[in-house]
Amino acid sequence: MTVIAADLSAWLDTRRRDVEDALERYVPATGREPGLVWEAMRYSLMAGGKRLRPLLAIAAAEGVAERDARDIDAARQAAMPAACALELIHTYSLVHDDLPAMDDDVLRRGRPTAHVVYGEGLAILAGDALLTEAFALLAREPSAANPAMAERKVATIAIVAEAAGATGMVGGQAIDLRAAVSGGHALDADGLRDMHARKTGALIRASALAGAVMAGASADAMQAVGAFGGQLGLAFQIVDDILDVEGASADLGKTAGKDAAAGKPTYPSLYGLEASRALAQECAGRALEALRSAGITGQLPALAQWVVGRRN
Ligand code: IPE
Ligand code: IPE
Ligand code: MG
Ligand code: MG
Ligand code: MG
Repeated sequence: MTVIAADLSAWLDTRRRDVEDALERYVPATGREPGLVWEAMRYSLMAGGKRLRPLLAIAAAEGVAERDARDIDAARQAAMPAACALELIHTYSLVHDDLPAMDDDVLRRGRPTAHVVYGEGLAILAGDALLTEAFALLAREPSAANPAMAERKVATIAIVAEAAGATGMVGGQAIDLRAAVSGGHALDADGLRDMHARKTGALIRASALAGAVMAGASADAMQAVGAFGGQLGLAFQIVDDILDVEGASADLGKTAGKDAAAGKPTYPSLYGLEASRALAQECAGRALEALRSAGITGQLPALAQWVVGRRN
């Protein structure tokens, strides 16, 4: 069991509930046609998960508002649609990552994967629809007519699109596929870091940045939050690689031991477990330093510690 600081634990409980409620509102169980595609989207979306990306967006919004002595509740509310949009995109990436043509996994978030339940075709479409719905949500909410909020929304859409697309997550996934096919250890240290930064780091960085933008962050705060998010994103995927070796499927809610079996290039395969743990810690250290130098506090530092200490 990872020990979570009491402060963070209470914050996580409250904010996770907020995120679950908002997801229920944005992607409701009834009333949308055709029902089958919405059902398949919700099957993966509402299956739990740590909700790290929305939590990072909210914590970043709170952190920059607190630093600049602005209204923290208003910042959190402004960030919630983007927070949820990022969870939709992340969930789509998981649905597609698990497909037979990609990692070919049958377990996700403690449930059979979407393609096992709905078939490959509908799983692909549910992923497509989650991605598209995320951008509809970003464009639609918050619905405030004031120009400053409209500008923040456009800036957020640009950040999220770049992180999700060919230079970000999709690009990283393409590198991952090619590397595994060509024999597992084909990437050197720089190549591996670049793949991880794209396939996982980009969306995590975008989550923190989106929260900050929606809360009206200044340029120096954006710079710090971006540096924090990039380092944390890399740390997150290093720990994901470690957990694939050390974790149990029941705790992870997904199949352990898949990376070695598929010949994936990972931090443990290149550096070994102990050095990988140290590298994840170093990334977290740099993430914290970026925040410290900009005077940003709130829950972001505790979230970074949680990411490197997590067990699932
Ligand atoms: C798993 O992400 C996929 C990666 C990017 C490593 P998470 O570990 O955040 O998965 P959930 O959202 O908690 O299910
Ligand atoms: C996934 O990396 C990154 C994504 C974009 C989903 P992994 O393939 O290691 O994620 P898991 O271990 O299946 O969750
Ligand atoms: Mg994968
Ligand atoms: Mg996978
Ligand atoms: Mg993994």
